[in-house]
Amino acid sequence: MKQKHLLSLKDYSRADIEEIFDLARKMKSRPGDYRKALEGKTLAMIFQKPSTRTRVSFEVGMYQLGGHALFLGADAIQLNRGETVPDTAKVLSRFVDGIMARVFAHQDITDLARHATVPVINGLSDLLHPCQALAAYFTLLERRGSLDGLKIAYVGDGNNVCHELMFGAVKLGVAMSVASPAGYEPNQLIVKSAAREAQKGRTPAPEVMSGPREAVKGADVVYTDVWTSMGQEEESEARNAAFEGFIVDQALMSEAKPDAVFMHCLPAHRGEEVAAEVMDGPQSIVFDEAESRLHVQKALMTLLMGQPQT
Ligand code: CP
Ligand code: NVA
Repeated sequence: MKQKHLLSLKDYSRADIEEIFDLARKMKSRPGDYRKALEGKTLAMIFQKPSTRTRVSFEVGMYQLGGHALFLGADAIQLNRGETVPDTAKVLSRFVDGIMARVFAHQDITDLARHATVPVINGLSDLLHPCQALAAYFTLLERRGSLDGLKIAYVGDGNNVCHELMFGAVKLGVAMSVASPAGYEPNQLIVKSAAREAQKGRTPAPEVMSGPREAVKGADVVYTDVWTSMGQEEESEARNAAFEGFIVDQALMSEAKPDAVFMHCLPAHRGEEVAAEVMDGPQSIVFDEAESRLHVQKALMTLLMGQPQT
C-alpha cells in the first residue's frame, strides 16, 4: 500500500481498502502467522477523549503483532500544558514507529501527520472516524461475502461516524442514505466531498434525507450512533428533544429488508438512539463490528508500519 497515514478513507482507493481487508481476513483466521509482523515496533496512542474499543483494540493488536503500544492519556503528556501538536509529532517520531491519536479538532490529526515522520492513524476526531468505517464494512464483507449491491441506511446524528461511513460507501460502491433531524445533518462539505469521490469512482453518492422510514426502505443495514458525541455533553438535553422519532426500534427495522442487520459503533444508549429490543435482538451485529476493529487495525498497522515488502 502506498499510503503513509490513515486520516480518512477519503484518501484511500478501493484497492487500498481491499488490501487491508484481505490481510485482516488472513490475520483473523491465522493470527499465529503474524506474531512477529511488528516485532520491535512501538505505537504511541494519544487520547484526548475516553475510549474502550479503540484503546483496547490497538493495544492488544500491537501486542499480538509482536510490538508494543504506549497509552498517552490527555493529562499524561505535555500536550495539555501547551506543547504544540507539531512539536509533539516531531518528538514522538524520534521514539516510536507510529502514532494513533484520538482528538477533538480534526486539524490536530492533520497537523500530526504533517509534522510526524512516522505513520499517523486517526483514532477518531470530531469530524471523522476511519477505523470504525473500516471495521463496519469488513464486518459486512465477512458476513455477506461481497459488498456488491449493498444499501446502508444511517439514522441519526450526522457526525464523525456518519461522515466516515459515507467516504467508505463511495469508495466501496455501497449505496447509502442518511436521515437526520434538521440542524443535525452531516457536514455539507463532507457530503459534497463524498459526492465528488462518488463521481470519480462512478459509485452512488450518499443521499441525505429527513425521514428515517424513507432512509431505511430497502436497506440491508441500519446504522446509528449516539445523539450526543464526546465533547457535546452540554447539548444533550436539546439533542434528545431534536432527535425524537429517530430511535431505531423494531418498527423502524421492519421497514428495512427482512434480513437487514443493525450496526452501531458503540458505546450505545438503549432507549435513546436504539431500542433495547434491536440492540440485543437477532438482527444486531454490533459486537461482531466491535471485534472487527482488532482485525482491520492489525492489518492497517502492518501495512503502514511493517517492513516494506521487497
Ligand atoms: N467505537 C469506538 O471508537 O469506541 P471507543 O470510543 O470505546 O473507542
Ligand atoms: N460519535 C461518537 C463516536 C464514539 C465512538 C463520538 O464521537 O463520541
